[in-house]
Amino acid sequence: MITPLEIENYCVHHSKKSDSIFQELAERTLQFAPQVSHMQVGPLEGALLSIITKMISAKRVLEFGTFTGCSSLHFLGALPANGSITTLDRDPKAVSIAREFWDKTGNSNRVESLLGDAKASVQKLLSEISAGTRPHYDLAFIDADKGGYEEYFEASLKLVRTGGVVLVDNLLWEGAVLNPKEKSDFTIHTFNEKRKTDPRVEMVLLPVRDGISICRVLDH
Ligand SMILES: C[S@@+](CC[C@H](N)C(=O)[O-])C[C@H]1O[C@@H](n2cnc3c(N)ncnc32)[C@H](O)[C@@H]1O
Repeated sequence: MITPLEIENYCVHHSKKSDSIFQELAERTLQFAPQVSHMQVGPLEGALLSIITKMISAKRVLEFGTFTGCSSLHFLGALPANGSITTLDRDPKAVSIAREFWDKTGNSNRVESLLGDAKASVQKLLSEISAGTRPHYDLAFIDADKGGYEEYFEASLKLVRTGGVVLVDNLLWEGAVLNPKEKSDFTIHTFNEKRKTDPRVEMVLLPVRDGISICRVLDH
């Protein structure tokens, strides 16, 4: 998290309160994976995902990185009754927890969970989109392996309609982008450098949680 904890908490407490299911999921995730439970988007970023989904009247959401389902639950709660989400992950144990929580909402029929390497799943989506057998998405959220970000972003520009939105998480990498040392620091920094001048999107990078960019897809 990039903002001081007190500021984050102040913002959480002065934003719309999230449903109790998110607290239940946070506790379940902490038991399941105590070392990495912070990978969840959390209440503030979750509320941001939700409000963006509503603001663009999204009906179809694509997510890279399901984990235990926190962000997908935020999307599900924001989508209209005929909306749906496709979410990609390779960890069946984490996804089984996500499924438990989708079931609790009574909306698991609106979730398409593709298990396996996201790079393979994305190829399937791309071929279906180009064959016209799968409609375009309105919004994509990239939150899986950072080494795949460039590929997921390029794919998202083909999978999301013009005027839709691509959100990319963890782009401040806990501040390491300021003085990159590790490979992952350079990967994220290079991604940000490229986006700065990418003519295919209108983009803003915000210091929310670990950094999130909002990219509006332009005609390209
Ligand atoms: C940061 S977590 C996602 C958090 C989730 N969006 C949430 O809010 O709870 C990243 C997820 O990406 C998945 N992942 C990492 N590399 C992947 C790959 N190559 N293919 C599919 N999933 C991958 C991991 O299994 C992990 O569950």
